[in-house]
Amino acid sequence: MSTQGLESVDESSTGATPQCRPRVLVVDDEPGIRESLRIILRDEFDLSFAETGEDAVRIAAADRPDAVLLDIVLPGMDGIATLERLRLELPSTPVVMVTATRTVKTAVTAIKLGAYDYVQKPFDLDELRILLGNAARTSALQREVDELRAAVGRRYQFGNIVGHAPAMQDIFRTLSLVAPLRTTVLITGESGTGKELIARALHYQSPRAGRPMTAINCAAIPESLIESELFGHERGSFTGADARKLGQFELANGSTIFLDEVGELHPSVQAKLLRVLELGEFIRVGGTRPVSVDVRIVAASNRNLEEGSRDGTFRADLYYRLNVVSVHLPPLRERREDLPLLIKHFARQKAAELGIEERAFSPETIDLLLRYRWPGNVRELENLVERLLVLAVPGAVRSEELPSGMRQAPPPAGRDARAEVLLGQKTLATAVDDFERDIIEEALEQLDFNQTRAAERLGTTRRVLKYRMDKLGIRDR
Ligand SMILES: Nc1ncnc2c1ncn2[C@@H]1O[C@H](COP(=O)(O)OP(=O)(O)OP(=O)(O)O)[C@@H](O)[C@H]1O
Ligand SMILES: [Mg+2]
Repeated sequence: MSTQGLESVDESSTGATPQCRPRVLVVDDEPGIRESLRIILRDEFDLSFAETGEDAVRIAAADRPDAVLLDIVLPGMDGIATLERLRLELPSTPVVMVTATRTVKTAVTAIKLGAYDYVQKPFDLDELRILLGNAARTSALQREVDELRAAVGRRYQFGNIVGHAPAMQDIFRTLSLVAPLRTTVLITGESGTGKELIARALHYQSPRAGRPMTAINCAAIPESLIESELFGHERGSFTGADARKLGQFELANGSTIFLDEVGELHPSVQAKLLRVLELGEFIRVGGTRPVSVDVRIVAASNRNLEEGSRDGTFRADLYYRLNVVSVHLPPLRERREDLPLLIKHFARQKAAELGIEERAFSPETIDLLLRYRWPGNVRELENLVERLLVLAVPGAVRSEELPSGMRQAPPPAGRDARAEVLLGQKTLATAVDDFERDIIEEALEQLDFNQTRAAERLGTTRRVLKYRMDKLGIRDR
């Protein structure tokens, strides 16, 4: 997985900018009408014209107008047939139909086929202007929504989640297999390891991506409210329930619900959740009829739910239902090889987001960061990188800029190996090899597997490095 493709919206394809006049395609076979429309509308709109339905479809496909004004009566392909073609080829372009009084019935048909609205001849000029203006604005908004949605989708591509460590690569493989399915996924891992990020990626790489994902933090909602929050309630079901309220499961129909900290759910709610997982239905608080929903459930927990199911704090049957596919995100200290890439990823992302200069990190700084324990995992690293960028000291980030806790971090390996050798658990040769392998691998990671630069960093030549790599079984990427 790579670190490219930050989620900035591609401005070049944004279409209508607010400053320029909306572009409207006028389709009418009568030259007189075209001419009068030109005079009426030219101050407000940027106009193009077509005489036939066939021309209209061709011009619209090429020019992508913000709205189309389409006469229903046309020679050859009539207005209705033209509308159908336009809806098919440019579904987000609003089409305003023009009818003579006698064709109003046809106009109703047109609305059913997806026309934006219709106007009657002879024109009411104000009405026509307002209608076309609204139609054009709708289409600009629709385009904006489409683009933002695409940008969100890009942000949550697996390719934007950093992870070269073998455990992460395994996770990505599992995720791309299950993302398109409705399968329930349970994500576990310490705080800040990326559970929510993975949940969003699952959602945005699924056919449900057209709707937003609903995220619920089960620990943040008071016990007395969570049931009604998730499943809704009927009017009068408890004091204060003065109207029916739909729950998140009903609102998320057709989409994905992310149940964060699912281990904190109250036992009575656990039972209801089990029912949704087994039958796809639930009963609103105070209700009697079951409500069916099509919701995909992704759950996360930083607690060990298996243990919870053994000691009775979490229903075992629910645990098995949630655990159909499970993904365990390793803590950052167990995938240190991803650190240099994550630093680069966040430096680039934060610089782009904040509109500030990206900063490189000096090798000494990276060394210290590699030794730190990262109790807050990726989130802690992300915040640190942002802080270092915002402080904007010129040049590469130096070790003195790190918080003191990170500067005094003890070396991770070495100590234990030393004890192992002295206790006779490991030979000196193996310990030395392990140490050398560790250092060479880290140097290679840090320098993007450029062997010449890694050799330089390690004070040797590329040939010797290559020889040691073969000997120690280090594979080139
Ligand atoms: N592998 C990764 N690549 C890029 N960014 C990551 C990665 N893992 C985590 N992040 C980022 O780190 C931050 C924390 O991740 P996230 O909120 O998903 O963690 P979490 O496991 O849900 O934490 P918590 O248990 O505290 O809720 C987010 O901004 C996320 O985008
Ligand atoms: Mg989270």
